Order: sequence, then structure tokens, then C-alpha cells
Amino acid sequence: MWLIGACGGVGTTATLGLAAISRGVSDTTSLVTALPLFEPLHLDEPADFVVGGHEIRQAGFRQTVRELQKRSNIFEPALADACQEDLERWEANIRPGTLLNCGPAITRLADRADLRPNDTAREAIEHIQDDLRAFRDTHKLDQVVVVNVTSTEPPFEIGELHQSLERLRPALDRRESPLPASSLYAWAALDLGLPYINFTPSLGASVPALEELARERRAVFGGKDGKTGETLMKSVLAPMFARRNWQIMSWVGHNIFGNRDGQVLDDPNNKASKIRTKDQVVSSIVGYKPQTLVSIEYIESLDDWKTAWNHIHYKGFLGTKMTMQFIWQGCDSILAAPLVVDLARLALFSQRRGEVGVLRHLACFFKNPMGVPEHDFFAQSAMLEKYVEESLTTETQRHREDKT
Ligand code: NAI
Repeated sequence: MWLIGACGGVGTTATLGLAAISRGVSDTTSLVTALPLFEPLHLDEPADFVVGGHEIRQAGFRQTVRELQKRSNIFEPALADACQEDLERWEANIRPGTLLNCGPAITRLADRADLRPNDTAREAIEHIQDDLRAFRDTHKLDQVVVVNVTSTEPPFEIGELHQSLERLRPALDRRESPLPASSLYAWAALDLGLPYINFTPSLGASVPALEELARERRAVFGGKDGKTGETLMKSVLAPMFARRNWQIMSWVGHNIFGNRDGQVLDDPNNKASKIRTKDQVVSSIVGYKPQTLVSIEYIESLDDWKTAWNHIHYKGFLGTKMTMQFIWQGCDSILAAPLVVDLARLALFSQRRGEVGVLRHLACFFKNPMGVPEHDFFAQSAMLEKYVEESLTTETQRHREDKT
């Protein structure tokens, strides 16, 4: 598993999780793919994984684990200690990333001396691909899945140039990169035929030319923006309001948290990307547009612990107005990391099956699922279950055909 933004909270927690489960110091609670439904798929076991990735900061896995322990009071010392050797070994696979078109809030985080700020887009893609090939060859890997867990970039508007590979390819040599860093990483991965997952709201592979590239190289991809907390609750509760024929008049969500992600999202440009993916869920489920407000505030003392307060004002029988409120308090990295592992396992499985293009059945993992307009968590989960059943049926047929 190649993590872009490897040593952030999510990347490090996913890495620690793989090590901890492999070593038997943690169970698989909260890993969706550990549910019995997925057992017949024979997904890759946590112990099968080797981890590497790109970073723009000097931090390593062990440092981030220590920071999360100290500041957010997560990870039992015995668990973290048991995994030090794996973390140290995998840290040696971290390579300098690209900062092209990341925006100032992310650029301010960068402190590695070996970054190459003056690359063209094409040079950046080539360097990323060199790193990916070296990782695969050095560790003799059968497959490599690339997962984007970098900081959220500001929104990037795509235009005519981005509509086809024929137009976009020559623009990679321009002085100004025609794509943000998240899309350069996506290009590098898809061009090598590797599965690519975008766990962030950044642009990534959501560009027609990149979807064309994926088809050309027979690669799979999925995204965007992991659905882990408040938005997960919205996608569970909104269907209830819809099915009881209650009319939602307004839905207000106020989020406060204090990790590095929160610090980057404190920049209004970067925040705009996140608000866009969080704010579309309710109206798309209920089919009309209640008044909505989503706010995200950086409160440093909270570190990795996020509080989301939601106020839902709705109309019931005989025009009576009522209110539902909930408070979600969760640890951001702990919520996100198991999903990264799930997505990696499922994307690798899809690649082995010879699938191509967007992985629509992964919609339940994302706030803004690519390729499907479905936001209802139950409908999304049903899509995943159907996919598993269909995969098993094809496998059984293939075995039968092989025998005859
Ligand atoms: P973080 O700030 O701890 O980690 C991001 C890492 O990416 C940092 O180590 C940073 O140095 C690195 N980075 C930034 N730009 C880079 C680049 N161009 N190349 C290579 N590395 C780069 O943030 P966290 O909490 O780990 O979140 C990661 C991403 O996942 C964010 O975009 C966040 O919005 C998204 N996400 C997180 C969720 C959660 O934590 N519950 C839920 C859904 C999405």
C-alpha cells in the first residue's frame, strides 16, 4: 500500500493498524472487510501488506504515532511498542512528494529538504512513477494500491483542457502545472495501471482526461473524501426522515477539531473543498433543498478529537415543527484508518478481477462517491453487498469453466 501523505494522522494510523493486526496485538473491530460477508472473497490479509508512501514533511510513522499518543491520548503504549519494528522498516520506504499547485496552506507544512518545487507536471509524474516502480521491485510486490491521504487542497476548477488526454498531455510540459498535486499522483498511479483511491476531497482522478487514462491503462479508481463521522450520520438519518415523510426544513452542522487537517482546513480556500462534499448529502437524499449550514472550525486544544453538533429542524403531522439534535464525538484518525485498509483491500481485489474504471460499489465509504449519485448509506451498502454476491457468482462460474 502506497500512501500519499503517509505520515499524517490517517496514513500513520492505517499503517499502525496493519502492523497491529498482523502481530495479533489488535483485533479487527471497525474493519468493514473483516465482516463475514467478505470472507469468501479471500482479500489480502493485513500481514500481506508492505507500506510506503510520499510525504512533504520530515516526519516518520514513529514520530506521528508518538505525537498522536501524547496529544490525543490514543494507541495503548503496548500496542505501539509492539509495532515499532514494522514502522521503522516501512519508514525507509517514504519518498519526497510533490507540492505543485497545492496552495499556500499545504506548502507551509513542507519541511523536507529534498522536495523538487521547480518540476514541471510531467517531471513530477515521472519522479512519482520512479518511486512507485522502485517500491514494487524492491519488495517484489504482486500489486501496489495507491491511496491519497494528503491534506485537502483548495478547489480546482477544470476546463476544456481537462476534457481529454489528447489535450491535457502536452500541457504537462508547461511552466504552470495544469493539475493540482493530487491529480499528478493520480495520473502517475493510473498510468502505471495501479489502483488509485482518493480518501480526500481534493481533485485527484475526478478529471475526464484521467478517467480516460484509467480506461486506457485498464486501471481502477475510487473516491472521494472518506465518510467517517458527521456525514455518515447524515447519510443514515436523512433516509429515515425521507421514509417517514417528515419534511426537513433546516440542517445545521457545526464541526470543531484541532489536528493538522483542521489547521489546513482553517484556510478558507481549503475549507471550501470540504464544505462542498459535506453539504450535498442531505438534499441529494431527500430530493429537495432544505436550508443547510456546515461550519468547520479549528480548535487547537481538541487535537485529533472531533465534535460535530447537528441541529435538524423538521416538520411533522399537522404542520408541527420538531427538532432532533445529535453530538458526535470521535477520533478522526481512528475513524478513518480502518476504511483506508478496507478500500485498499477491495481495490486490490477489483484489480485482480480485471475490473476497469470507477469502483462504484465503494460508494458507502465516501462523502462524494465517484460515478454514482447515491448518498443513502443503506442503498450504498446494498450496492456493496450486491457486488460481493456477483463477484462470488462469477468466481464460481469461472471455477466450473476451468474444470470443464
Ligand atoms: P494530516 O494533516 O494529519 O495528514 C496529511 C499528510 O499529508 C501530512 O502529513 C502532510 O504533510 C501530507 N501532505 C500534504 N500534501 C502533500 C503532498 N502534496 N504530497 C505528499 N504528502 C502531502 O491529515 P489527516 O487527518 O491524516 O487527513 C488526511 C486527509 O484525509 C485530509 O484530506 C482529510 O480531509 C481526509 N479525510 C480525513 C478524515 C478523517 O480523519 N476522519 C475523513 C475524511 C477525509
